[in-house]
Amino acid sequence: MKIEGRATRSIWMEADGWSVGIIDQTLLPHRVARLRLATLDDAVRAIATMQTRGAPLIGAVAAYGLALALRADASDRGLGRAYDALLAARPTAINLKWALDRVAAAVRDAVPAERAAAAYRRAGEICDEDVAINAAIGRHGLDLIERLVAGKRPGEPVNILTHCNAGWLATVDLGTATAPIYMAHDRGIAVHVWVDETRPRNQGASLTAFELGQHGVPHTVIPDNTGGHLMQHGMVDFVIVGTDRVTARGDVCNKIGTYLKALAAHDNGVPFYVALPSPTLDFTVSDGLAEIPIEQRAAAEVTGVSGRTADGRIETVTIVPGGTPVANFGFDVTPARLVSGLITERGIIAADARALADAFPDHASRAVATERAAE
Ligand code: MRU
Repeated sequence: MKIEGRATRSIWMEADGWSVGIIDQTLLPHRVARLRLATLDDAVRAIATMQTRGAPLIGAVAAYGLALALRADASDRGLGRAYDALLAARPTAINLKWALDRVAAAVRDAVPAERAAAAYRRAGEICDEDVAINAAIGRHGLDLIERLVAGKRPGEPVNILTHCNAGWLATVDLGTATAPIYMAHDRGIAVHVWVDETRPRNQGASLTAFELGQHGVPHTVIPDNTGGHLMQHGMVDFVIVGTDRVTARGDVCNKIGTYLKALAAHDNGVPFYVALPSPTLDFTVSDGLAEIPIEQRAAAEVTGVSGRTADGRIETVTIVPGGTPVANFGFDVTPARLVSGLITERGIIAADARALADAFPDHASRAVATERAAE
């Protein structure tokens, strides 16, 4: 996607051929700062502090994190320690484990001297797969948008509401929830995006608004509690969000607040779609509410808000009385019954166990085999 008109991926190999570049997302939209990851610790820190974020991108960074670790220590012990450190960096998005397992499987049988090279190769493939998956999600989601255009007056936009950032900044490129939007826009279809600001870290206001703006897609940032009102007044044609983990029965874990949007959509007859790349599927869990670990983050994300001052400084101000207790759950679970459909790289499917197993039999059987091996 574009930054200042230049096509850019969210992760790349640096010119030295071994270190890895990312965009420091904690500074967006005020500064576009590129960050070089040269060690395992750099990769772990970037994921834990959310300099890099979004389920698929976390997976890609973790994959390269293993490669960086193996350059320094290619022993079985080194591999195990790096795997554990990266896995612990963020607990909810399953893509992290998915990517680590893929890289670990690619290097385990190699002699230590060849492990780092094998890890870099697999990490590169994971990045390319992500882009191909998102392009396929985009094509299937575009069909939905085209159907909605049929009910519009000439020039009237299709109004899409999204939550958090499931855009190209959350993936290697294109995004998941945003892929159909970019494709529609590029084909000259009038789309307009309602962007939830997404407290406490404001990924919608800071990141989704940034990338839609860079690509020229019309959008409006709204406070998180506005979506229900818009839906009651017929101002939202459909909702599309990303996800950090989808269970075998189709429960959807995504950024905190997603569930409330699904409830409002259900009450108002607004279709609620989830863009789901297959690495985000977790067939080892079924009941999302009971089985998915929900990350709890620092109180400071809730007690403070950061932004740019009039003279260009980035500052954080406190917005609650000193000593006030706060809760900061990073994600929530939307039950499958509230999901109109899952937009996957293999087409749009129902959020239920049968449809998921039929569409992804390869993933389902691999999960059963892994469970058996662990028993
Ligand atoms: O905490 P974040 O910013 O990593 O959360 C991101 C989201 O919830 C996204 O919607 C999700 O990762 C899907 S990204 C394609």
